[in-house]
Amino acid sequence: MCGIVGVLGNHEAAPLLVEALKRLEYRGYDSAGIATVNAGKLDRRRAVGKLVNLSDLLVHNPLAGKAGIGHTRWATHGAATVANAHPHRAGGVAVVHNGIIENFRDLRAELAADGYVQESETDTETIVLLVKRAMDRGAAPVEAAKDTLARLHGAFALCFLFDGHDDLMIAARKGSPLAIGWGEGEMFVGSDAIALAPMTDRITYLEEGDWAVITRAGAEIYDAENRRANRAETRIQLDATRIEKAGYKHFMAKEIAEQPVVIADALKHYTSADGALRLPEALDFKGIDRVTLVACGTASYACHVAKYWFEQIAGLPADIDIASEFRYRDPVLSPASMAIFVSQSGETADTLAALRHVRDKVAKVVSVINVPTSSIARESDLALPILAGVEVGVASTKAFTCQLTVLALMALKAAQDHGRIDPHALAAKLQSLRSVPGLMNAALALSDPIARVAEELAKAQDILFLGRGPMFPLALEGALKLKEISYIHAEGYASGELKHGPIALIDAAVPVIVLAPKDALFDKTVSNMQEVMARNGKVLLLSDAEGVAETGKGTWKTLTLPGVEPLWAPILYAVPAQLLAYHTAVAKGTDVDQPRNLAKSVTVE
Ligand code: F6R
Repeated sequence: MCGIVGVLGNHEAAPLLVEALKRLEYRGYDSAGIATVNAGKLDRRRAVGKLVNLSDLLVHNPLAGKAGIGHTRWATHGAATVANAHPHRAGGVAVVHNGIIENFRDLRAELAADGYVQESETDTETIVLLVKRAMDRGAAPVEAAKDTLARLHGAFALCFLFDGHDDLMIAARKGSPLAIGWGEGEMFVGSDAIALAPMTDRITYLEEGDWAVITRAGAEIYDAENRRANRAETRIQLDATRIEKAGYKHFMAKEIAEQPVVIADALKHYTSADGALRLPEALDFKGIDRVTLVACGTASYACHVAKYWFEQIAGLPADIDIASEFRYRDPVLSPASMAIFVSQSGETADTLAALRHVRDKVAKVVSVINVPTSSIARESDLALPILAGVEVGVASTKAFTCQLTVLALMALKAAQDHGRIDPHALAAKLQSLRSVPGLMNAALALSDPIARVAEELAKAQDILFLGRGPMFPLALEGALKLKEISYIHAEGYASGELKHGPIALIDAAVPVIVLAPKDALFDKTVSNMQEVMARNGKVLLLSDAEGVAETGKGTWKTLTLPGVEPLWAPILYAVPAQLLAYHTAVAKGTDVDQPRNLAKSVTVE
């Protein structure tokens, strides 16, 4: 993954690079580093761990120069050490890299045979050694970089800086996104436009295979065949408040609390005041015979919930898969199907690759994204923004519920287009959906009781989540959220599946969280809960007042949620599931916003 940045500026580059890296830290925080050219001399600073360690290093050991490159790392090849941190340097060349060079072992052996030996374990150092070898053989920087790019297999976004050249950067993109920023007599490079927002809003996205020679006067862009290419410049509108916690202790807490507002905004955007759907005309399900929903992680659980909705509300067959499996399993696709890709970042490598895999095999490619300028959005026939606002916490919260909201509206639209819902029933469903943000406020008010339960959960080794119907994927999501930020092992199961194996895990030490809104399957879920309690299981029941009144007796704890239209219960119950994970992590003292080993945007396979 990793985030990269480059600056050819008129001011000191180091502070600009650090500010940009702060905005890219969501891509990884195993190490960070910058290199600059000052009075013609290339130098660098690198530090293991979060960006703050690099900032501290720079206080004692500053780096001058108005040209520089920077990197924040999510380790792929080699542990998080200073030697493996970027920028990598060989002689007079430095590079920062996002991605994976698949043929680096062959290249490394070839270089070693020529006496160019790596100091680090990374695939990236191979790149910089190739450039150095070409320059040692007499090539100028641009030629050396161009020849090197032709040798690389895999996915990369790169930015090179050269000793003796304080007005030159070379950037390249293949598989990993890269943006060029235009200033007044200054030029910038970044993994995304957000990184460059403090410096410029004038952005050109490089296309697949593009590379660029950048000076303060501008950028010469070449395509994969080394022909001069014209790429459009766009003006980006970015949320300036993105990195504010607004008084909350963690971004995750802030983002959980924002949900009633952002969901109400999304509903307002996609429905009209008179209670009708207002989705883009291009979202047409007429003639569509099935939908295929593909995503990763939390976004894939949103797809899983949506499968129930498309089938139940619209009678439309819905397949779901995780992107990393989908793209390699030769899925059988109907040419009359709609492929729907769901991604908060819009840059997830597996999801993007899955999208490219189906491009010409389906009737329409639709994406549900949070970043409208992202690669997935740009490569779709139609992109529907979820309007969650910037999500900083690595654990996805408001993006998940906004994804659900947009998918719910899409399922209603499919039902409408297929004549499966009359206007009266549609208005009623929309009305119940519109009540969800208000109900979420009541769910948020459970934060204190949930914090008390979390004190106990924090002592557990294993925790199970159970749900039926569309609450099953929510059980999976609740477990994922808990394990990723509290590091407690957790699993989600379909309630009815428990007795087919997992029930062997139940004893008094294993909390079992039962997600049981009062719906058509409630009695069956309660039976499964009784099976757990009969084996001394420690049940935390989440239900509405009626459900709790009927079945709360004998459970370890109960939490009462407001009643909700059962179809939309996964959106509402996401809130207590998120709060349980959050407070458990806080009780354990883990790094809530930047949990270990993770990154916000996963741009490698
Ligand atoms: C978990 C989480 C991840 C992401 C997944 C896909 O809290 O955030 O599982 O959902 O990495 O990311 P996007 O949605 O950016 O494609």
